[in-house]
Amino acid sequence: YFLGVDLGTSAVKCILVDETGSVLDSQSAAYPLLQPHPGWAEQHPEDWWQATIQAIRLLMEQTSVSSSDVAGIGFSGQMHGSVFLDSKQEVIRPALLWCDQRTAEQCAAIEAAVGKDELGRLTGNRSLTGFTAPKLLWLRQHEPQYYARLRHLLLPKDYVRLRLTGELGMDMADASGTLLLDVARRRWSQTVAERLSIPMEWLPPLFESGQVAGRLQPEAARLTGLAAGTPVVAGGGDQACGAVGVGVVRQGIASVALGTSGVVFVHDDAYQVDEAYRLHSFCHGVPGKWHRMGVMLAAGGSLQWWKNHFAHEELERAQQEGLDVYELLTSLAETAPLGSEGLLFLPYLTGERTPHPDPKARGAFIGLNLRHGKAHLTRAVLEGITFGLRDSLELMKESGIEIKELRVNGGGAKSAFWRQLIADIFGIPVVTVNSTEGPAYGAAIMAASGVLGKDIIDICDAWIKEVDRTQPRLELYENYEAYYQIFRSLYGTLQTSFH
Ligand code: XUL
Repeated sequence: YFLGVDLGTSAVKCILVDETGSVLDSQSAAYPLLQPHPGWAEQHPEDWWQATIQAIRLLMEQTSVSSSDVAGIGFSGQMHGSVFLDSKQEVIRPALLWCDQRTAEQCAAIEAAVGKDELGRLTGNRSLTGFTAPKLLWLRQHEPQYYARLRHLLLPKDYVRLRLTGELGMDMADASGTLLLDVARRRWSQTVAERLSIPMEWLPPLFESGQVAGRLQPEAARLTGLAAGTPVVAGGGDQACGAVGVGVVRQGIASVALGTSGVVFVHDDAYQVDEAYRLHSFCHGVPGKWHRMGVMLAAGGSLQWWKNHFAHEELERAQQEGLDVYELLTSLAETAPLGSEGLLFLPYLTGERTPHPDPKARGAFIGLNLRHGKAHLTRAVLEGITFGLRDSLELMKESGIEIKELRVNGGGAKSAFWRQLIADIFGIPVVTVNSTEGPAYGAAIMAASGVLGKDIIDICDAWIKEVDRTQPRLELYENYEAYYQIFRSLYGTLQTSFH
């Protein structure tokens, strides 16, 4: 068996997968998200560690798999978070997460120190608030007493791997989100580190995602119920792992991940950048390959907000009848007409990244009239999220990327209505595959690759099969197109009112 661990933003999920790719079982354990100030998001790395031990223990107990039958462990994790360690590899303060928006000033300082174009040329990316390097600069400026103790920088899942194996390390896919990696050459950028006065010694050794990066230590084995010496591969960030987990490992195939964030992800055989670095260019979890992606900060997050505050009846019904509240909401949305009778929703509830790198962007309903009811508003939320994701697709098209098929994953992929909405708004067939475990499955594939010495692409071909295909309906594509063009103009029109 291969153990795939996905250290998410709300919980860690662990799955056991056999050598044919079948999932035996999955267990998760949750941890709190700290929001000490508006726009801040932090977590205690110790909480990740305790939850991971708990979920692995539970998985081993429930399945009665013998520890010696677990051949390898792979990691996926929330990206960009900053784990600050001192010389004893102890955590200095809670980690700042990918969705933390406090670093606008530091982002500007990075662009000033390195040069916007030069930064893009060196790292493939713009300086964005969610990325890791601005978090380091924030620490230096606001908590110099902690910065003085800093000796090692890790990303969230790398901290848990450190606790398991005693080894510092990071994979190139996740490292791409630090803004310190020379993404084209797959090594740390000395130039960027020097310009930002960040010592290179603080940056851990780099691995490809499927490389073994350590072995389980006896104490970690005792705590988790696994065997000491079990190989642990480096793994990847949750986007690279999610893409590997649905087989986005070839040119022409893209994915749409509908989690809290929403991501349009496309595989690249060679390193490529969008001319203004509006798309992120990252190393892929497939060795020697890259990918580009556009990231919407509140995709499922917008729908969750809508559910939490405005879906009391659906929540009650779901509880009483044992139904899924999101299914009730998408069914309600389906009763409103296409385009929600002229109502548009902007999904920038927590600021935005692609295509508007603006932490101050905000959400909005535009075009309300007296005919609009809850069904319209619910549909507008779903359409607005999907239009926002289409913005990333347009950037890909502008870069000359051809996409023949979209694979959907994440919680939102369960909805047939939403899959059809994506197919119709994007004008591309939407495919679901047999693996529905998300990034944890990609992490298990990486573990299998490292342990068996097989190519990640070959394992994907053997394990991942298409189960459903939603075709775009061309007449609807054209109807949506009119609304999409209005949607596209709204951010520019409203921008000044957000600030
Ligand atoms: C990607 C990103 C998110 C987080 C969510 O750049 O920030 O996907 O990794 O967990």
